[in-house]
Amino acid sequence: MTKTEKTFYLETFGCQMNAHDSEKVIGTLEQQGYRQVDTEEDAGLLLYNTCSIRDKAEQKVFHRLNEYKKLQGEGKKFAVIGCVAQQEGEKIFERAPYVSMVAGSASYRKLPEMLARLEAGETRVTGLDDRQTEETFETEYTSRKNPYRAYITIIEGCDKFCAYCVVPYTRGKERSRGSDSVLEEARRIADMGYTEIQLLGQNVNSYRDPEGKRSFAELLGTVGQVPGIRRVRFMTSHPRDFTPDIVQVMDEVPSLCDHVHLPVQSGSTRILKMMAREYTREWYLERISWIKAAKRRRIALTTDIIVGFPGETAADFEDTITLLDDVKYDAVFGFKYSARPNTPALVMIDSLAEQDKAARLQVLLDRQREIQRLINENDIGKIVEVMVEGVNPARGQIIGRSSQNKPVNFTWSHAIAPATGSYQQVRITKTLPNSLIGESVP
Ligand code: 5AD
Ligand code: SF4
Repeated sequence: MTKTEKTFYLETFGCQMNAHDSEKVIGTLEQQGYRQVDTEEDAGLLLYNTCSIRDKAEQKVFHRLNEYKKLQGEGKKFAVIGCVAQQEGEKIFERAPYVSMVAGSASYRKLPEMLARLEAGETRVTGLDDRQTEETFETEYTSRKNPYRAYITIIEGCDKFCAYCVVPYTRGKERSRGSDSVLEEARRIADMGYTEIQLLGQNVNSYRDPEGKRSFAELLGTVGQVPGIRRVRFMTSHPRDFTPDIVQVMDEVPSLCDHVHLPVQSGSTRILKMMAREYTREWYLERISWIKAAKRRRIALTTDIIVGFPGETAADFEDTITLLDDVKYDAVFGFKYSARPNTPALVMIDSLAEQDKAARLQVLLDRQREIQRLINENDIGKIVEVMVEGVNPARGQIIGRSSQNKPVNFTWSHAIAPATGSYQQVRITKTLPNSLIGESVP
């Protein structure tokens, strides 16, 4: 490292939104003349992209910052960005005085300016736009790490205010990006050789084109028809805004993957009401029935569930278990409720003991494992298309993913192993609850 060279090290936690934010932050830093390095020791600027969705996230951040403190060498600078930065704000400077920049994701569009202030020697640079901004973070400088699957943000922030959730406070107001700009990025990505696009947003299907040109379903269909794009995914959908035209466009456009992630959170209408989800169990199940009625292919369904929300009784929890039996999800992400700062649920009495929450989570996951075992068994003998992600040399298998987003491990008979990023036809010979196993079909 020369004395004048600007270098940075970035560590990222959390969801795909955060991972993709980091790709854009890296791109912006590089555009500002910084070079990314692999170790904290080699870096002049250390950035920590944080998540605050669950557990005691802020404590973990302060713990990690304490380790940074030891690195406090000549001229090293520290920045905390992302959800914990937005949530804790200037309190971070008090607890970790060696930190000189704190910025939430709603401020990243101002990063070049914030970096300039940092370089000029300011020690309290903040970007805490919270819910004030209507603008999105658009940049052509995105440093994509995966050469085959590209993320594209279509909507930022959230206006739903579910009682347990920090996101409306950490990621700001719901704001959509123009559909022309999204399409332009999709075309650019396809020209670069990417074949899979994942459209991202806290609630992708709450998308509202500021130019009024395309609905979410229309945007999906148009992205799906960009030449060179073979797979389009989207995450996350909200039941409130799930409309039948989404299923219709999935029927019409083959590149739209056979998968919908539709978080339910609870199977009890009473708890859903307390969570301010603004739908009932029956209303949710109606959306599921639309997805199940897709004509062209079976669409895999996945969900998020919180167990032990304040006031959840054994009967409420039982409603969640019976919902699993009614829907038969392909995968479930289960979480124990944890109280988060600023959220409405914070004042509700979180009386269920940690061990009872853990016990409920275990019941949920065990039941779901059994359901997945049965669903996946149906795939034995079928041929599925797999996008190759790599090789597992220890097991002599190729690893990849199906359109339904299931991990598929398979063997091949030809001399040369299929290339990463290629698409292979695989006959399924064996199934496990969380993956499929097969052999490539020449
Ligand atoms: N406690 C537990 N789980 C939560 N989630 C969001 N907030 C909380 C919380 N306070 C879960 C929801 C959401 C997923 C991303 O994280 O299930 O869909
Ligand atoms: Fe959180 Fe609800 Fe918004 Fe999802 S929809 S980010 S759970 S407030």
